[in-house]
Amino acid sequence: MIQIDRRHFIASLGGAAAVKMMSSEAKAEALESYMMQQLNNAPAANQNKKFPKAADIEAQIETRSYRRGAGNLFLNTQPNGKVKKLTPMPPKPAFLDFFKLRMEQTSNHVLQSANRAMKTGMTEEIILACLLHDTVHALIKTDHGYWGAQLYAPYVPEKVAFAIRYHQALRFYEDKEAGYEYPDLYRNLFGEDYVPLPHIQADYKMLKSHKWYMEPRLVTVNDLYAFEPGVVVTIDPFIDIIGKHFKNPKEGLGNDNSPVAHMWRAIAMPDNPL
Ligand SMILES: [Fe+2]
Ligand SMILES: [Fe+2]
Repeated sequence: MIQIDRRHFIASLGGAAAVKMMSSEAKAEALESYMMQQLNNAPAANQNKKFPKAADIEAQIETRSYRRGAGNLFLNTQPNGKVKKLTPMPPKPAFLDFFKLRMEQTSNHVLQSANRAMKTGMTEEIILACLLHDTVHALIKTDHGYWGAQLYAPYVPEKVAFAIRYHQALRFYEDKEAGYEYPDLYRNLFGEDYVPLPHIQADYKMLKSHKWYMEPRLVTVNDLYAFEPGVVVTIDPFIDIIGKHFKNPKEGLGNDNSPVAHMWRAIAMPDNPL
């Protein structure tokens, strides 16, 4: 079933004003051709999958006005897109304030992945790791496993930080026995002939014989199925787990003088010029 992204559809017709002027036949026709196009683009429906090469991905760099590793709070990647004014943070912000006010762009994906972990009976550490695993994208995307683990390490159990840190490396390596296949998403993002960087290879080698291998591995298993359009999961089922395992500092995240307080402040105040 093809999902219609209403906003994208309307934009493809030249915006709401243009749609208003169209006859209902013209609208129906436009919708049909849009859906056909979407079907052609849908990876699942595409039998002869065609992926870019790593060199094609590299050639795209100079076609953009931004770098792909930049945190999503700091830019709008749509052509002529603008960033929005952010809701001010409370004076002593806790994790949930950040999650709701600064991590919106990844929240649906991480909630879906935590939901799957919960439904399949995984441990509370895995569920929490799934809930946090990509949220640092707000700040930076490049090497996000390492940044994310560092951001959360002072406040969560060691196993949770471990799972966040290494899910990034394990995403590049299949483990069919555990239920993880190399994703087409990565063939598209990195190129089908991409070779993981030396630090990723080294971490994978280390992880294979590590007693906590399954912690990041299970994050990747839940990651794979957490891109369902139209599925919305609320934070409610996870409030208890957050309360139990996330130690919010009493001064608020960013105010506690911890080694990562500046990272939280940068997420809280991305409009500060220096
Ligand atoms: Fe990730
Ligand atoms: Fe993810």
